[in-house]
Amino acid sequence: MHDFVYKGKSLYCEDVPVERIAAEVGTPLYLYSRATLERHFSVFDGAFSAVPHLTCYSVKACSNIAILRLFARLGAGVDVVSGGEIFRALKAGVPPAKIVYSGVGKKRAEIEYALQCDILQFNVESAQELELISQVAEALGKKARIALRINPDVDPKTHPYISTGLKKNKFGIKIEAALDEYTKAAGLPGIQVTGIACHIGSQITEVSPFVDALKRVKAFVQALSARGIAIAYLDIGGGLGITYNEETPPHPSEYAGAVISELQGMNCTLILEPGRVIVGNAGALVARVLYTKKSDAKNFIVVDAAMNDLVRPSLYDAFHEIRPVQITGAPGIAADIVGPICESGDFLARSRQIPDLARGELIAVMSAGAYGFSMSSNYNSRPRAAEVLVSGDSFSVIRQRETCEDMVRLESIPDYLT
Ligand code: LLP
Repeated sequence: MHDFVYKGKSLYCEDVPVERIAAEVGTPLYLYSRATLERHFSVFDGAFSAVPHLTCYSVKACSNIAILRLFARLGAGVDVVSGGEIFRALKAGVPPAKIVYSGVGKKRAEIEYALQCDILQFNVESAQELELISQVAEALGKKARIALRINPDVDPKTHPYISTGLKKNKFGIKIEAALDEYTKAAGLPGIQVTGIACHIGSQITEVSPFVDALKRVKAFVQALSARGIAIAYLDIGGGLGITYNEETPPHPSEYAGAVISELQGMNCTLILEPGRVIVGNAGALVARVLYTKKSDAKNFIVVDAAMNDLVRPSLYDAFHEIRPVQITGAPGIAADIVGPICESGDFLARSRQIPDLARGELIAVMSAGAYGFSMSSNYNSRPRAAEVLVSGDSFSVIRQRETCEDMVRLESIPDYLT
């Protein structure tokens, strides 16, 4: 459920015509609905209300500080994977006591920063990282609260690039080694063991992989408890999928029901790290048609958004619904919707049945709120798109469109070339 709806023949975001925003802000632009964001967060968070829990929105899905602020005001914590994400979260007003920090490659400076901010927990992904965190914490006269991220070796049945809980993936500590690592952690001077973490992948559309992972983690927590190591926080990561096309992922209440029933007998606070399920369908990428090219072999609709703006179709062959912003009654054609970038892999949709759009018309690339802007780049020296948040009948630019000056600001020409 989202708030991008046709009223008459025009696509609206909440109560604002998308066309009006595009005319004022220009294209390409990312558009988010405040109502959808708030409803998705509240539905997800509310589904776990029967148990002690903290919903830590996964910043990487959509990192704009206005959106982080919106969730913080609803009581959210955040899941971060870099010093940059910690910085954003703090800037947005997320309390440090609600920040969990995952990632396989935390640098010393990032660890120091996180310790100085006094975040809730590090989700540690290797034996070496554990040792470094202990050293850094000791040097700062602190104790780092940690969970070990366990790799439960469960198949999430999703795209291989976004599967993370299999032994062959780089993430986490294999479950067989984790007992010894916990014992070691409990004895390290800069470490306070507080939790256990696991995250098996993303865009998961069934409940069973989550339940399988949780069963393994639960058995493991019991083994830890037998060794006298108590777990206060059980972090089960994110990964719940959304509908892009015809997927039928479980509703958050179904997911929560399965998780909660698996938790019976465990005495810990649950941490959840949802990203896509909160923001995915709350955002769209709006682009304008530049040219159309028709041939016997193929029809192309060239728009002003490209793989630098939304890389998911190129990178994962991901499906995003394309909607015309105005319904014109034009006949349907099959076309590739492509961007201006000099790569054949630069497409937003391929062989898509779509109204025969004309130059100047607008399209909305749906379900682009997650891993859309946050994965965008300047490839081909294309300034990154503007981001706009709609609230009822008004809208705010929450990130200005980059300028060419912005793109070269950090570059310099050495003296010997002047
Ligand atoms: N927690 C951890 C430790 C993660 O690595 C991730 C996502 C999440 C939470 C949030 O997962 P979500 O609820 O959004 O599924 N760029 C890819 C997705 C990469 C996901 C990376 N990790 C895409 O566009 O599909």
